[in-house]
Order: sequence, then structure tokens, then C-alpha cells
Amino acid sequence: MVRETNIADKKFVLHISREQIAARIEELAGSICAQYKDKTPHFIVVLNGAAVFAVDLIKALEMQLTVSFVRLSSYHGLASSGHVKTIIGLDDSFVGRPVIIVEDIIDTGKTLYDFLPEVWDKNPSSVNIATFLTKPGALKYAVAADYTAFEIENKFVVGYGLDYNELGRNLPDLYMLAE
Ligand code: IMP
Ligand code: MG
Repeated sequence: MVRETNIADKKFVLHISREQIAARIEELAGSICAQYKDKTPHFIVVLNGAAVFAVDLIKALEMQLTVSFVRLSSYHGLASSGHVKTIIGLDDSFVGRPVIIVEDIIDTGKTLYDFLPEVWDKNPSSVNIATFLTKPGALKYAVAADYTAFEIENKFVVGYGLDYNELGRNLPDLYMLAE
């Protein structure tokens, strides 16, 4: 693993290693299994960013579950555009069942704040949120995660599914924008 990486015009430094991520996912998976064992929850993965986290998380879950994907988009470069578009939407395969939304990061909270009513419209029995990251210093909307792998400071990060202008999603570790 490298300590520093350049993506386009920006320099990023290692922030959370793949080993730390893997260990934390095992912990989260244990908590989720304890809460959902025998309930066959439905996971809604928010593309593109949450894909990497979601794959590792569901593989760590020793229980029956179903999974589907939505694509929402609000970010351009380093700042949220403030407009959330639904590019791939929801099916209604989870009516009456518990849902866990899987996100890469809750930044301002706008994406999930706008998306949650769409999920409740399909009449799931419950809705919880599992996110790889939260940035408490950036939160502007009333959205709270039930499962958070890591809380980070209010700085731009890349890797483990998160991108800078679509680049860097394949980095196995998480990197933070250098000063
Ligand atoms: P929110 O709607 O402001 O909570 O932001 C949600 C989306 O913005 C996340 O799902 C990410 O895709 C993206 N995002 C927020 N912060 C970062 C970051 O530091 N790096 C990369 N993407 C980010
Ligand atoms: Mg995202």
C-alpha cells in the first residue's frame, strides 16, 4: 500500500488502511447479524460509491439477505451539487421487509434525506442505514446512520469506492486530500 497517491491535479495521503477497513467491517457485520438474523433483510446499495463497501459487507454477513442497487448522483469534483438525481431507481421487492440502505459516505446528508421517503413509499417494515463513512462536521440534513464504519473529519477522501471526478474508486485503502 502506498502512503501518498496523486489523482489528476490533487495529492492524497493514506488515511485508513485496508486492514483497518476489513477489521471494522467484521465488527459491523457482527452487529448487523445480531439485529437481523432470521429476518432476511433487503440491502439497497447506493451506486456508484457504496459498491466496494457493500460487496465486502454482504460477504461478511452470515445470514439470508437480498440486495439491489440504486444510482443517485449529486457530486461533481470536490463539492456536492445540491441536486440529487435518480439514475437507476427502486424496485418493490422489499415490501413488508426490513431494509438496510448501504452508502459510501454521509456528507451533508442531502442524498439520503431525499432518498428515504422514496424507500418508505414502498412500505418496508423498517429502514436502517449502514454507511462506510460519516463526516459529522459537514452534516446539514437530519440523517443518522445506524451502522457507521468510520467517522472522519470534514475533508475530501478517495478510495475504497469513493471517487475524485470518477477516479480512485479502485484504491483498496482510503486516502484524504493533502493540505
Ligand atoms: P451528501 O448528499 O452530501 O451526504 O453526499 C453524498 C454523496 O457525496 C456520497 O454518497 C458520495 O458519493 C459523495 N461524497 C461526499 N463526500 C465525499 C468525499 O469526501 N469524497 C468522495 N465523494 C464524496
Ligand atoms: Mg455515494
